[in-house]
Amino acid sequence: MTQIRHLTQPVPRRPGELGVHSLDRFNFSVPDVEEARKFYANFGLDLREENGALNIYTHGHPHRWGSVVEGPRKKLQYISFGAFEDDLPRFRERLEALRVERIDAPPGAESNGLWFRDPDGTPIEIRVAEKSSPNEKSSVESISSPGGVAGAPSRSKAPIVQPRRLAHILVFTRDIPNAIKFYSEVLGLRLSDRSGDMIAFMHGIHGSDHHVIAFVKADGPGLHHLSWDVRSIHEIGLGAMHMADKGFSRGWGLGRHVLGSNYFHYVRDPWGSYCEYSSDVDYIPVDHDWQAGDHPPEDSFYVWGPTPPQDFAFNYEVKP
Ligand SMILES: [Fe+2]
Repeated sequence: MTQIRHLTQPVPRRPGELGVHSLDRFNFSVPDVEEARKFYANFGLDLREENGALNIYTHGHPHRWGSVVEGPRKKLQYISFGAFEDDLPRFRERLEALRVERIDAPPGAESNGLWFRDPDGTPIEIRVAEKSSPNEKSSVESISSPGGVAGAPSRSKAPIVQPRRLAHILVFTRDIPNAIKFYSEVLGLRLSDRSGDMIAFMHGIHGSDHHVIAFVKADGPGLHHLSWDVRSIHEIGLGAMHMADKGFSRGWGLGRHVLGSNYFHYVRDPWGSYCEYSSDVDYIPVDHDWQAGDHPPEDSFYVWGPTPPQDFAFNYEVKP
């Protein structure tokens, strides 16, 4: 299937520049994997037990977006970025030139890539992988019924939402400028937008959403949220309602962000971090040079929505 897609749709690639094309996968530990299975299955994701890990897929999509493993506490273990195969030797040279120390792959990690640590100490991999970031802006559905036809299903017949793909992750960092510098120079990501030294969003140079990874300032590293792309605002609402029905009613939404423009609803997970239903995020095509802005915080967090929970940006991985 993937091969056929490649024959019909060439993968976009910015000529002559070195950068990762996708956030390939995340890995984090939790003390109770069963609790994770329940949460993410209800969220609409496809969970598979493979090689001692709980792997996270989206229904109908071949890519493995991430893994949850058992550990003493919830902790971001590593992030892998995908690169084109012929770029890997150039990344190896770049790591040497920048004197970034290479490390061994973490225990249990399947790897074909280059491992090192980011400034917060989180293991990072650049690996050869298919481009899993979208090659064009993801579609958004707005379905209206004609006159004389009821548009909404009854509550009991409302479908269970199944996100299409991982959209991005947001991680904590001690130092936003340092994170921007490192992820630009080493991984070849580009700054999309920032709000001072509090939050920053970065995209891939070979065509990606407005952000594949974002950073928010905290006392140490950690995973703030995983964001999943859904087809419409209607699906965001359906997902949020379903999660509330299953006991996961805490969160933040419905709202619309300024930076990235996506509509959102965040569901709080059992560890004090979040899973986001996201729709209509901005897209940065391969041949477009996005003008990064530095936005005042009071004017860039959300256009509309309820007041966020007071501890929304609190890093429970550092201070449980
Ligand atoms: Fe997000």
